[in-house]
Amino acid sequence: MTNTDILFKTLEQQFLLPKDKLSPIIQGFMEEFKTGLKTPSKGLATMIPSFVTRLPNGNETGTFLSLDLGGTNLRISAVELLGNGQVQVLELKRCPDTQLKTGKGSVFFDWIADAVKELVTVKASHLFTPDQVSGKETLLLGVCWSFPVDQTAVDRGTILRMGKGFTLENTEGNDLGDMFHKAFERKGLNIRVSAILNDTVGTLVAHAYSNPRTRIGLIYATGINGAYPEKVSAIQKLSASIRDAYKPGTEMLINTEIDIFGNDSYLPLNKYDLVLDNSHNQPRFQLYEKMMSGAYLGELTRLVALDFIKEGSLFEGVVPEGLEEPWSFPTMYMSTLERDSTVGHEKSLETLSGYHFVNTPTLQDIAILTRICRTVSTRSASLASVAIASMIQQQNLIKGDQDIIVGVNGSTYEFYPFMEERIHRTLREWFGVEISDRIRLEVARDGGSIGGALIAMLCCP
Ligand code: BGC
Repeated sequence: MTNTDILFKTLEQQFLLPKDKLSPIIQGFMEEFKTGLKTPSKGLATMIPSFVTRLPNGNETGTFLSLDLGGTNLRISAVELLGNGQVQVLELKRCPDTQLKTGKGSVFFDWIADAVKELVTVKASHLFTPDQVSGKETLLLGVCWSFPVDQTAVDRGTILRMGKGFTLENTEGNDLGDMFHKAFERKGLNIRVSAILNDTVGTLVAHAYSNPRTRIGLIYATGINGAYPEKVSAIQKLSASIRDAYKPGTEMLINTEIDIFGNDSYLPLNKYDLVLDNSHNQPRFQLYEKMMSGAYLGELTRLVALDFIKEGSLFEGVVPEGLEEPWSFPTMYMSTLERDSTVGHEKSLETLSGYHFVNTPTLQDIAILTRICRTVSTRSASLASVAIASMIQQQNLIKGDQDIIVGVNGSTYEFYPFMEERIHRTLREWFGVEISDRIRLEVARDGGSIGGALIAMLCCP
């Protein structure tokens, strides 16, 4: 065995998750579902009721306004539901810079209100009535918020700790609807937030518009999270009077905030996870997400590569200039390397050309670095399967012979090569062939905008 073989053997022991290692994580997640459903949300941001109790049937029609804020982009959309599962979206996209993401909450919400105004009064004005454009008539807005919110009604919710680089001042603890309404007032807009939803809830609802049998909405992007319909009677954290107001058998979509699940008693955190977490501006928060979502895979790979270099197994033992910089290896580079089928690995070399090498990387270097990427991303896929498997078990979907439809949205799933195969491999290992063959992972696009519009409509007919 060469030194490199030994390094890979150790690495694979640290990263790979065969069935016996999946078991405690899935069990831990099942416990978190139980606890989260009965523990009042105060401060604990998991298993959040969405107050959405209806899924669309694909026949809804009309034009609606929606807003979608994620870690990278703000998207404001005019969504035309055309019926028959068909949709047309006209959107305006903005990207908040670090100053906006870390400044005053009111400044950030004013910036959003300006973008809404531009869409309604300029870009999509032809889609609304003159009274809606002038502000004489109130426009309803569905807000898709890809951050934890302690929801208290379909259109109200307390903003919790945000993550994804957002540390807005005077924001946490405030009602999200109020923050929007104050900004709309300051900007002279007659717009009312009629629905607040997490992006997973949006994905589930949007996918149900095209496939009404959808039972899980999964986001696998910069962050990870999932939503599923839960029996209202099982959501014990809702007061008895709220629960009793619903017809027996009603289901409500739950935003699991699975990203926050887990702790070091059962998450198989390795030394790279711990180094990454310690260097993060929100340590001990979202440990599971940090092991597997798009925001972190590149950094985990960089940390592993530095160890291989230190051991003399990569780049002749010399750290190329630039790679010593934390967060300098984006997850996108990993997908380019894993996808590169060119004989001389030209695409990979081009991707790495931003670093300063003493000697050009050899084909062997590229092969080693690609294998590191594969190891890190394969664990990520297995951990995404854990989220899916636990939501399937929680709903008892294993019984029966129906297909189990999962609407998946997000860059890590859509643009990282081989993700679907890798997730299916883990699901097969966990459930066996028969059950895993019934699980359909379908790409759900535009969960934020379409889901936002649909919920704004379903909740305020
Ligand atoms: C957020 C969730 C969100 C998920 C996917 C997580 O970091 O806490 O609210 O649904 O990312 O975007």
